[in-house]
Amino acid sequence: MDLKQITHAENVRLSDDGRAVRILDQSLLPNQTVYLELSRAEDLYEAIASLRVRGAPAIGIFAGYALYVLALQSQADQYGPFVEECRKYRDYLNSSRPTAVNLRHMLDRVLAVAESMPCADVASIQEAMGQAARAIHQEDIAMCAAISEYGLSLVKEGDGILTHCNAGPLATSRYGTGLGPLFLAKERGITLHAWCDETRPLLQGARLTAYELQRAGIDCTLICDNMASLVMKEGKINACFVGCDRVARNGDTANKIGTSGVAILAKHYGIPFYVLGPSSTIDFTCPDGDHIPIELRDGSEIKEKFFAQPSSLPEVKCYNPAFDVTDHSLITAIVTEKGICYPPFEESFAKAFGRGGGAVR
Ligand code: MRU
Repeated sequence: MDLKQITHAENVRLSDDGRAVRILDQSLLPNQTVYLELSRAEDLYEAIASLRVRGAPAIGIFAGYALYVLALQSQADQYGPFVEECRKYRDYLNSSRPTAVNLRHMLDRVLAVAESMPCADVASIQEAMGQAARAIHQEDIAMCAAISEYGLSLVKEGDGILTHCNAGPLATSRYGTGLGPLFLAKERGITLHAWCDETRPLLQGARLTAYELQRAGIDCTLICDNMASLVMKEGKINACFVGCDRVARNGDTANKIGTSGVAILAKHYGIPFYVLGPSSTIDFTCPDGDHIPIELRDGSEIKEKFFAQPSSLPEVKCYNPAFDVTDHSLITAIVTEKGICYPPFEESFAKAFGRGGGAVR
């Protein structure tokens, strides 16, 4: 498979007839490549909840299309009942996962289009919602391209990059955020070596990151999460690149469980720790990490999901938070489409996005 087939893969898009959302089912990778076309509310919800589509920007793109596809099915012929129905679908889809703020931002953005057209007929509102959903997708492509460029400026030929979870094209639109600089480097003939944390318990690093990098011909090595400290100590890591699910105003960052541990290790070994993400992942209404809701998932993911036999007795309790919050003091910089934001983040965000974060939809 060539590089462009990975960086430009259309993993989330509208179906050819425009009435369903088509996704590559990430929950089956890397062993099966299955595309799904979803149009029923329950199936759209389930696709997010069970991580068939995952990664904050990809969830946002999917959600925009999903709300549009559901709006197309409405029987309402008046503004009031139509918008009321769309609000119910927004609330329903928004309850599928709590942490990635792109989900709420993009649902609100497509709904706001409908709400802003009280004098229009339903067909025109539906058309405008579709345009908004497509715009979200196109904007993410542009944001990922810019983030990848800025990220690449932070590393040099031969560097070792540690990454956690998956922040590649599968999790976004094109190139990715945390993995974007690696793909761009490959395109430009710059050699970087990626170290992929396996990312327990759902193995996004092993199943998705190593898959994307390997398929793109990028030199990568898979490690268990508990090996990161050793590879850092051995001098193999020059920088850490991770994505994000919600960044608070002060820079505290929610990302896949285990990310904050990587940041603490990086600080110990004097390695720069970079968060890469689009402005759609910054929540300017959220003052700090204590206000970020953390998703709790079923314990069976820890004990059973990827094992031939359960790894523990059935009666053993599990605690399975899907995300943690990396304290802003551990983050060297947050790389956005508007540039590289250094601490204090409240100030650098204000400079990049305007006071109060006006750039965020
Ligand atoms: O539970 P997931 O797989 O959706 O978690 C995803 C992550 O933590 C990613 O790092 C994050 O969404 C950024 S993707 C560009």
